[in-house]
Parts: sequence; structure tokens; C-alpha cells
Amino acid sequence: MARPKIALIGAGQIGGTLAHLAALKELGDVVLFDIAEGTPEGKALDIAESGPSEGFDAHLKGTQDYADIAGADVCIVTAGVPRKPGMSRDDLLGINLKVMKAVGEGIKTNAPDAFVICITNPLDAMVWALQKFSGLPAEKVCGMAGVLDSARFRHFLSLEFGVSMKDVTAFVLGGHGDTMVPCARYSTVAGIPLPDLVKMGWTTQEKLDAIIQRTRDGGAEIVGLLKTGSAFYAPATSAIEMAEAYLKDQKRVLPSAAYCSGELGVKDMYVGVPTVIGAGGIERIVNIKLNKDEQEMFDKSVEAVKGLVEACKGIDESLA
Ligand code: APR
Repeated sequence: MARPKIALIGAGQIGGTLAHLAALKELGDVVLFDIAEGTPEGKALDIAESGPSEGFDAHLKGTQDYADIAGADVCIVTAGVPRKPGMSRDDLLGINLKVMKAVGEGIKTNAPDAFVICITNPLDAMVWALQKFSGLPAEKVCGMAGVLDSARFRHFLSLEFGVSMKDVTAFVLGGHGDTMVPCARYSTVAGIPLPDLVKMGWTTQEKLDAIIQRTRDGGAEIVGLLKTGSAFYAPATSAIEMAEAYLKDQKRVLPSAAYCSGELGVKDMYVGVPTVIGAGGIERIVNIKLNKDEQEMFDKSVEAVKGLVEACKGIDESLA
């Protein structure tokens, strides 16, 4: 049986890390596509040359030709311009919308059966536009944000509690931005919800609030440290987790930016919600009931995403 084919649209910092991880995990053969000549070819060759030492079997190819992504099972999209220090995700909107149009058309023509995971920011608006531009079924197009945001939350919580990250679960909803909603009562250490851990004296409400704020600012914290470019190791790892769930039909319950048609009160928009990812793509949205405070925060987050979607419609008439 032929190996699955993974197309990476954008061969920058995240794209290269995605290629390396996909090869190391033997998820399939990898095609790196980028408009920058030499970059995808160089990264493909460099990673392929790590194969003998690592002992993986995967073919890697770099290209500037969309025809090379033909028949891809998974497309992970990072094409675009990353955030620079001081730049908000929203500043990126106009530039990256044009990129999504080109990428959407490339996927529509060459890989219409793929499961598409978008990473390009501002995420919730870009994945919405990418689905429209590509015309792929909504359940086959999603965005990666929640896995990363909850990984950051889990990491900070594990440091606070002095326990393994493996035993910390976290639940983050809403848009991938300053309004994201980390849900404390659905986040646990080995099943014990965070509010109970506060009562048990494991931490204080103040410390928990600070961790939630650090999670919200997680992307900006890395941008501030790196100074040139944004995070790439954890974003790539998060997207690979989603791709693996699809390729291996794992039915993982992972937060994704998914197309909502009424779930959690959201219509015709992509926003971070709990989903089940398997061979059908986004097979289910877990339609949880939020309490009053969570609903208020979620609504605020949805409003922020709605503003970006409306701005996209203003920039490109074909989306209106
Ligand atoms: N088609 C294909 N590739 C493109 C296009 C396009 N139209 N426009 C730009 N690119 C490529 C660039 O040449 C570059 O190699 O996209 C790549 C982006 O890589 P980086 O600049 O290294 O950005 P990266 O850190 O990988 O982040 C990519 O993910 O998290 C988000 O905000 C981040 O939107 C950004 C994206």
C-alpha cells in the first residue's frame, strides 16, 4: 500500500518543522511547497539526509509547483507572513487573505480530497476564507489553535503543580487571540478540576488567573523573546497531532477551529470548539453547555472573530 501523502503549503519555520516531525513519525511522504525558490527544496533535502541516522522511511520533495501536491491526503497550510514584534494577528489580515486565495485554488485543483489544517494567522478568519476559496467540504477544513493554546495552558499548569504534563488536561475555546477562553472547570489534573485544586490549596485563584493570562499571551511571549518570527516547534507539533488523528482514524477529542453551523450558538463561522477528529475529518463538534461567565467570554471571542470575517468580506468581494 502506498504511503499517505502530506503536503505542506509554506516551507518556513513551521513548515520545515512539520516536515521533520512527519518524517520522524513516518506519517507519510512529504511535499513541501513554497513560493520562495530553493527553500522547500533545501529543507526537503536536509531532512531527507537525516533519514539514514534516524532510520525513517519517508520521501521528501520540495517544490514551487502546485501540481506536486496532487492527491495529497493531508495539507497543512502555513503560507503567509508571520507576526513581527508589536504586530497584532489582525494586522496580518490583508496580506494573508491574498495568500489564502492562491492556496485555496491550489488545493481545490490538485488535492480536493485532502484533510486541510490551516495554521496561518489570524487563524479563525484565515481558515474560514480558505474553506470558501477551496470549496472543500467544511468538515475537511479546520484550523490549528486550540491544541497549541491548551498545550501552553497544560505546560504552565504542570509547572505550577509540579506534576507531569501528561496528567494535566486543559480546555480552551473561542478564537485564537487575546479573547480565547481557557475553561478552568473543564481543565484537570488527573480528572480533578482546577477550581477543586484551588479549594485543595494546590494553587490560588490569583495564580490561576495569571496562568490563564499567560496562556492568552502565549504567542506574544514567544514573539517578544525571538524578536524575529513567531513560535514554530509547538505549533508544528500541535498540527501533527491533528494530522495523525485523521490519518490513523484515532477519533481524538481535540480543540480545533471548526466550521460551526449553530453549535455553541455560532453560525457560518470558524471558531475554537472541542471536536472529534477521525478519518472523516472533523467528525463531530462537542456541543457543550457553557455557564454564564464562560458564555459571556465565548460570545466576546466570537464577536472578535466575526469582526475579522466581516473585514475579509470587505477586502475580497467573492467572500461576501
Ligand atoms: N504560497 C506559498 N508559500 C508562501 C506564500 C504563498 N502565496 N506566501 C508566503 N509563503 C511562504 C513564505 O515564503 C515562507 O517560507 O510562507 C512561509 C511562511 O514561513 P515563515 O515566514 O517562516 O512563518 P512561520 O513561522 O512558519 O509561520 C507561518 O503560521 O503561526 C502562523 O502567524 C504565523 O501566519 C504565520 C504562519
